[in-house]
Amino acid sequence: MKKTTTFLFGLVSTFFVLGQSASNEPALIPQPVSLKMISGSFTIPKTITIEIPGHQPEVKNVAAMLGKKLGNVTGYPVITKETPGTGSGTFRFVVNNSELKALGKEGYRLVVTPTGVTITAGAAAGIYYGIQTMLQLLPPEIETRKMVKRSAWNMPSVEIIDYPRFAWRGLMFDVSRHFFDKAQVKEFIDEMARYKYNLLHMHLTDDEGWRIEIKALPKLTEVGAWNVKKTGTFGSFSAPAANEPRNFGGFFTQDDIRDLVKYAKERFVNIMPEVDIPGHSMAAVASYPELSCTPGTYTVNSGEKFMEWPENGHFYGLLDNTLCPANEKVYEFLDKVFTEVAQLFPFEYIHMGGDETAKNFWEKSEAIKALMQKEGLKSMDEVQSYFVKRVEKIIESKGKKLIGWDEILEGGLAPNAVVMSWRGISGGIEAAKQGHEVVMSPTTFAYIDYMQGDPSIEPPVYATLRLSTAYTFEPVPEGVDPKYVKGGQANLWTEQVYNMRHLQYMVWPRCFAIAEAVWSPKEKKDWKGFAQRVEKHFDRFNAAEIKYAPSVYDPIITAKKDGEGPLKVVMSTEIEGLDIYYSFDNSFPDNYYPKYTGEIEVPKDAAPMKVITYRNGKPIGRMITLPITELKKRAIKN
Ligand code: ACM
Repeated sequence: MKKTTTFLFGLVSTFFVLGQSASNEPALIPQPVSLKMISGSFTIPKTITIEIPGHQPEVKNVAAMLGKKLGNVTGYPVITKETPGTGSGTFRFVVNNSELKALGKEGYRLVVTPTGVTITAGAAAGIYYGIQTMLQLLPPEIETRKMVKRSAWNMPSVEIIDYPRFAWRGLMFDVSRHFFDKAQVKEFIDEMARYKYNLLHMHLTDDEGWRIEIKALPKLTEVGAWNVKKTGTFGSFSAPAANEPRNFGGFFTQDDIRDLVKYAKERFVNIMPEVDIPGHSMAAVASYPELSCTPGTYTVNSGEKFMEWPENGHFYGLLDNTLCPANEKVYEFLDKVFTEVAQLFPFEYIHMGGDETAKNFWEKSEAIKALMQKEGLKSMDEVQSYFVKRVEKIIESKGKKLIGWDEILEGGLAPNAVVMSWRGISGGIEAAKQGHEVVMSPTTFAYIDYMQGDPSIEPPVYATLRLSTAYTFEPVPEGVDPKYVKGGQANLWTEQVYNMRHLQYMVWPRCFAIAEAVWSPKEKKDWKGFAQRVEKHFDRFNAAEIKYAPSVYDPIITAKKDGEGPLKVVMSTEIEGLDIYYSFDNSFPDNYYPKYTGEIEVPKDAAPMKVITYRNGKPIGRMITLPITELKKRAIKN
């Protein structure tokens, strides 16, 4: 890919100019490298022909997926022909080496003319991505799950050249805190692949559940996969009683995993397993208590509090949820786990977690003290580093490479480790300085478990990440040699996510933004244009019956107070063209109420403020109600 950059730049720069000046550009996400509108449009004929090269099973499979989708929605018959080069098909897929050289394995050239659609690529992945782009040229109804009667299915004529900025375009799915089953994970893969993500990072183990069958260690799933069903706000649940049934959860059998890996591969998605150790290991310790430094009986967490999470990051366990680095049985256990994990997942990396380890029980452990003396370890960080280095040896002995959260830097990085930077970007910068590869997934831009709008209206989580902030995600920090940055990813933790509908709400639209950060050229960033395209994709999601967060339509509400002066409210909107109306008298504002035009003084005896946004005379945001005490709190924070 690098070799051909100069050639490509020359090739695409004209397209940039033409593309940007075109008025009726299609709403593509992620933005392609170049887009040229040409005159005319293409109408899908009433019999669809897909022409593919012979002897290319992956392309044949991709064509079958497209044929099924188009056939189902349009109701037209679909014929697939292995007749390379005749150029007679409605959709023509061509794979050749010159495109491989020019665009890499994932790049493609998509040409739509009034006579048909041609996608040329160096490999099947490129054909797949070209199809995803092509589908976005069709009306939103193409995303409908059943047949739609339309007089015609049209798409504009275009020439698109496209390839990704990064090879690592990840999404992390926490299937541990709440278990999501195989069918749900497949749905997740379908949705991510449409936006050209190519890596599903499965967070398979945590305090709330061990989700993967390990045949040599059956208790991990007999005991570790099950907790007590609770409803409400995770983290604040009452401790389960001894007689409450532990029947909530589940796990993937090894057959399930093989099926998922295959399903993902057909969509050009790799699956990276994460086994989160030595912290976040309550499910493992509940299954095999001898793995702990602290003798006792443990149960899989059901969302009751068992840890203090101070701002300074020094986690303090109320219970010991860690594996004991001083216990040889732990390494024997991990050898068994990683033997089976390595056999199941063809991806070259295994994620060992390594985050948020509470070390207060280690500090009290005689075994840890003896280990420190024997190995000359001077701090708990060095104990963790000793553990990580031993885990790296185990993982490498299975033919895999180790990746971990940025805490694995503490006490000294293992020799070949890749660092996933999550506590901001500093871990990634430090690791790259040390010559290690990094994947950027900072909380500040890529944590999609965070709230995405006003905290008064979003399901509560401890921090906020708005779409406009996610859109500014830049995986290569200033001063870092880009060769160390493998790419970026968004992370979906699921403590507060109980079902697929809410999962979708958390993922979209922020994963549109992250998709652009990891696929599209950096110079194409343009918030205003992106926001317009996002709205077009909301139409597609409506057709697909996929939920998304409408938070971007709600106002951003801050307050201020200068000394003894009056309390004032300052509001703005993330996207342009919205009007804000408000009340302080308990009634519901509409577009006949006072319109916000600049900071407002809160009346002395005001009732809670109610606010709503309108566009073109129609309500578009959700009604927000904020007590005056909340406004006062916000003013203090300012
Ligand atoms: C993390 O969010 N604890 C990696």
